Amino acid sequence: MRHAALSALVGLLAVTGLAAKSPKRGLAAVSNKDWPEDDAIWVREGSPISWYYNFHWNVSDTYATLAQDRIEFVPMLWGGGVNDTDFLRNMTAMIEPAEGSGPSARNITHVMGFNLPDQPFEHGGSQMKPADAARAWVRNLVPLREKFGVKLGLPVVGDPRGGWIDPFLKNCSALNKDKDCEFDFVPFHALGHFGVLKDRVGSFSSAFPGVPLWVVEYGYNDQNLSTTQEYFNQSLSFLEDNKDVARYSWFGSFRSTVSNVGPNMAMLDPWGNLTDIGSWYLGGNATGNAAMPNDTPRTNACSAEHPCTGGGENAEVSVSAGGLGLWAGAGAALLFLL
Ligand SMILES: *[C@@H]1O[C@H](CO)[C@@H](O)[C@H](O)[C@H]1NC(C)=O
Ligand SMILES: *[C@@H]1O[C@H](CO)[C@@H](O)[C@H](O)[C@H]1NC(C)=O
Ligand SMILES: *[C@@H]1O[C@H](CO)[C@@H](O)[C@H](O)[C@H]1NC(C)=O
Ligand SMILES: *[C@@H]1O[C@H](CO)[C@@H](O)[C@H](O)[C@H]1NC(C)=O
Ligand SMILES: *[C@@H]1O[C@H](CO)[C@@H](O)[C@H](O)[C@H]1NC(C)=O
Ligand SMILES: *[C@@H]1O[C@H](CO)[C@@H](O)[C@H](O)[C@H]1NC(C)=O
Ligand SMILES: *[C@@H]1O[C@H](CO)[C@@H](O)[C@H](O)[C@H]1NC(C)=O
Ligand SMILES: *[C@@H]1O[C@H](CO)[C@@H](O)[C@H](O)[C@H]1NC(C)=O
Ligand SMILES: *[C@@H]1O[C@H](CO)[C@@H](O)[C@H](O)[C@H]1NC(C)=O
Repeated sequence: MRHAALSALVGLLAVTGLAAKSPKRGLAAVSNKDWPEDDAIWVREGSPISWYYNFHWNVSDTYATLAQDRIEFVPMLWGGGVNDTDFLRNMTAMIEPAEGSGPSARNITHVMGFNLPDQPFEHGGSQMKPADAARAWVRNLVPLREKFGVKLGLPVVGDPRGGWIDPFLKNCSALNKDKDCEFDFVPFHALGHFGVLKDRVGSFSSAFPGVPLWVVEYGYNDQNLSTTQEYFNQSLSFLEDNKDVARYSWFGSFRSTVSNVGPNMAMLDPWGNLTDIGSWYLGGNATGNAAMPNDTPRTNACSAEHPCTGGGENAEVSVSAGGLGLWAGAGAALLFLL
């Protein structure tokens, strides 16, 4: 009796939890050490978000206890790994942990390789020569695909062909006993107006026909609210409907006060409440919470206790008598280039 009732309840929760999930919709997780509580918002009951990445090899603290079928963690080999196999070792320990070694096995099915290796460090890139990246790929990623069937994402670069990717793939097959270095999906960024998104999806899909595309950072940066919201609606329908796009993640999982892409792309207002865009992304209705309200901060937005210097990833913010002043850190502003 008790068992039947319990499993009916568990079944119901599983169904309601899963029914709301969107297989495409994900989270580009940008945590801020000043407000770790914000991280829980994206995975609350009924959230349609089905996967996340955090630019890092390990899970985010807040999601560490959530299994892959609750929200899929996609690790990233951000950069480096040229002369070591640390990433391979870390992934192996995650997929097949030694007995009694700590966390239980995590069924990793997708991994992303290198974030903007075609860009210098000072612009937020991982600054890798194609030949070095190929070595890191063959050492760390090829074995994950061969041994565990993990699907690999091509490095995130600006140009689908030419410049960086072609020499990378050539170096890679030369190192890989002349076998092509295979990949299973192609992640990239699209910041700018709607035409930019359409162009990038078009050019990546012609460069890699039939390979699933992941738009892992997108948005129309530094626009007023109405333009940003119009873009948000238009881009979301486009990405949902486009057959070549397998996954997408809006860039905005942070408070407007620490945004380096303009406040209106942020999914949280200065107090950590969802903005309209944030709520829409989670399948809810408009909240009416403005990204940058005109009034002075009321609560824990920016204060002596919370000086709002950001977690390092985002812009710096100052509090002045007139309210919130916002400027992008020179380096940070370029962190998320196309
Ligand atoms: C990975 O992250 C989890 C959750 O925060 C943590 O418990 C674990 O120690 C981390 N693993 C390593 C090797 O740092
Ligand atoms: C990798 O090893 C090569 C050859 O030993 C060396 O020249 C290179 O500097 C090393 N690269 C890194 C990033 O450590
Ligand atoms: C691997 O895990 C160790 C902690 O055990 C961490 O220090 C290191 O940065 C990780 N390296 C990679 C490339 O995943
Ligand atoms: C891992 O997840 C994939 C996709 O959901 C599934 O096909 C596979 O059976 C799972 N593997 C294990 C060992 O649970
Ligand atoms: C390998 O990469 C280097 C740059 O890192 C490039 O100069 C060279 O042409 C590439 N090799 C091939 C065969 O494309
Ligand atoms: C928002 O920006 C767009 C494009 O720059 C402009 O056409 C529009 O008038 C602006 N709207 C408001 C309310 O400022
Ligand atoms: C965007 O879509 C929401 C419904 O999801 C709607 O309420 C809102 O008016 C739309 N805004 C624009 C600018 O299209
Ligand atoms: C916004 O957040 C503050 C502080 O966490 C809370 O007191 C307030 O009720 C929230 N407002 C809305 C509209 O959710
Ligand atoms: C959104 O608003 C509509 C109409 O007011 C309401 O029926 C619906 O339950 C609301 N949805 C959520 C998720 O609050």
